[in-house]
Amino acid sequence: MANSMTTLFVLLQVIILAFVLSLANGQPHGLKIGFYEKTCPDAEAIVKKTVDQVMSVAPSLAGALLRLHFHDCFVRGCEGSVLLNSPTHQAEKDAIPNQTLRGFQTIDKVKSAVEKECPGIVSCADVLAIVARDVTVATMGPFYEVETGRRDGRVSNITEALNNLIPPTANISRLKAGFLQKGLSVKDLVVLSGGHTIGISHCSSFNNRLYNFTGKGDTDPTLDPEYITRLKIACKPGDQNSIVEMDPGSVRTFDGDYFRIVDKRRGLFQSDAALLDDSETKTYVELQTSTHGYTFFNDFGVSMVNMGRLEVLTGNSGEIRKVCTVVN
Ligand code: HEM
Repeated sequence: MANSMTTLFVLLQVIILAFVLSLANGQPHGLKIGFYEKTCPDAEAIVKKTVDQVMSVAPSLAGALLRLHFHDCFVRGCEGSVLLNSPTHQAEKDAIPNQTLRGFQTIDKVKSAVEKECPGIVSCADVLAIVARDVTVATMGPFYEVETGRRDGRVSNITEALNNLIPPTANISRLKAGFLQKGLSVKDLVVLSGGHTIGISHCSSFNNRLYNFTGKGDTDPTLDPEYITRLKIACKPGDQNSIVEMDPGSVRTFDGDYFRIVDKRRGLFQSDAALLDDSETKTYVELQTSTHGYTFFNDFGVSMVNMGRLEVLTGNSGEIRKVCTVVN
């Protein structure tokens, strides 16, 4: 009896050790830092070079390229399904929330550059993840190591995009539920929302807050009235196409301004404003506005890695697409 207890105890220790080691290795999700070290050692350098080239001529694509990785990961996981084309317009990219996505050609450009050096090795899903990090750095944001080893999916479905992408009208319960459902925390929610420090929005994404909040031609009482006046100049009633900067003045700089903006009740979307409706997210927002509590840069890297692990395909699952817009 004593013997079998000892064996059981040792076995348990071995299992725990294996688990801890596998975590340190970037598993159990199957990703690891430097996955292409042997098979395509220059992969990340090639991505960076191409991103830097694009940034030098089209810096406004930084936000768009960061957003692409988020929209990829929230629908079927980070497996490149957001990039697939459908001849019948039934792919994720055809869904309304994805119709404002930009930067697809840049991804194609990066992928071609990588394919030239190492054909059939680097997935489109990994290209999206590395590009997201590189545009963060290119806009003066934090550097973080990107885990790689994702493979590409073969399915992209319009309905799944509609069901999984959280709308800008979401309140705090919906936001929290949307993130928790993906295995991401409330902290990941507030940290990753800080991605809105770069980039633009179309008026259509928040017009209701300016002109018809409850169907009575009213404005959103949680949005700073002075800011409403300014936004109304940029966005006329019913205007779908004009664009505004989400972090006016430093739209091309990745910084902590987003939290100051939200704190001043100038977050552009209801989903930004909603971060003041929960004690954990509100505390985080307030801490980031003070110099002593500023942790955003470090937190952003951690949360991006968390997001990058969502439902990944690894090992023999999926494929390495040759061209990101079509399955092999
Ligand atoms: C929390 C839920 C989120 C909602 C409801 C949301 C919603 C939106 C909306 C409506 C836009 C504007 C689209 C347009 O009209 O062109 C936008 C833009 C953007 N979002 Fe989010 N977002 C969320 C989370 C995130 C996350 C997690 C990231 C990345 C970490 C992110 C990064 C961006 C960026 C960079 C842009 C600017 C895109 C551009 O310049 O084209 N968002 N988001």
